[in-house]
Amino acid sequence: MAVIKKFRIKSFKEQETLLQLDKVSMFYDNRRILNDISFKVNRSEVLGLLGPNGVGKSTIFKIIMNIEQLKSGKIFLKGIDCTNLPIHERSSRFHLSYCPQYGGYFYDLTVLENLTAVAEIHINEKNLRISKIDKIIGQFGFDSILNVKAKNVSGGERRKLAIGMAIINDPEILLLDEPYAALDILSIKMIQEIIINLQSMEKMSIIVCDHNARDLLTCVDRAIVMSNGKIIASGSPQDIINDTQARSVYFGDEFKIN
Ligand SMILES: Nc1ncnc2c1ncn2[C@@H]1O[C@H](COP(=O)(O)OP(=O)(O)O)[C@@H](O)[C@H]1O
Ligand SMILES: [Mg+2]
Repeated sequence: MAVIKKFRIKSFKEQETLLQLDKVSMFYDNRRILNDISFKVNRSEVLGLLGPNGVGKSTIFKIIMNIEQLKSGKIFLKGIDCTNLPIHERSSRFHLSYCPQYGGYFYDLTVLENLTAVAEIHINEKNLRISKIDKIIGQFGFDSILNVKAKNVSGGERRKLAIGMAIINDPEILLLDEPYAALDILSIKMIQEIIINLQSMEKMSIIVCDHNARDLLTCVDRAIVMSNGKIIASGSPQDIINDTQARSVYFGDEFKIN
């Protein structure tokens, strides 16, 4: 994992805020899921969302996309209040892209057909489209499964396909919901390297969530720890690991990063 950290390029950080949540609350039925959640993501920053299963990480992503509606609070993209903007406008105007925790691909299409389908939605120019698809195929090592239907590839290959589809249109803000789930160690490293490359080369802002702290903290600049619908700690990976409250409710006393 130390290899990954060498790739982090701090000097790329700029202070332009691309995404901001301001006191966002959300209920399912009468149950409060998110309670006054506020955070910012700057350009070319990788932010990690950590917390146990069921704490509301996926709900935050769905609210940012407007797949679920917040109950109170505001969402800003590039400083513009987007709280009432529909999903397609958030995506097209603000180059927001989302890789959901489950699915994110067409089950009955082949790997190549899946990549082509999203590329055709986003990229008009044919040669550019083909070169983008080729780049993703090379980056993710899809050559040998191009003509296999998504439903027949392994769980890890499906996760990689969903991530490849989410980045094919060069988003400025990318939301990755548990990208490491179902992946083997080498694939986790590959996704971590892709995240760091997208950050440093494309200046992409990325929010990545996971319930597993070790994989997540390896390649984030800043992280947030959630408990009971609230943010209980935020800061650099080392800051949150040292945070007394985060240790008592989430990490446990034994947790170390290296
Ligand atoms: N559509 C829904 N209806 C009712 N409750 C839901 C719905 N979706 C999620 N929940 C509940 O909201 C809470 C947060 O879910 P989620 O955001 O998926 O958590 P996480 O991604 O952190 O595991 C959980 O208790 C979950 O059961
Ligand atoms: Mg989730």
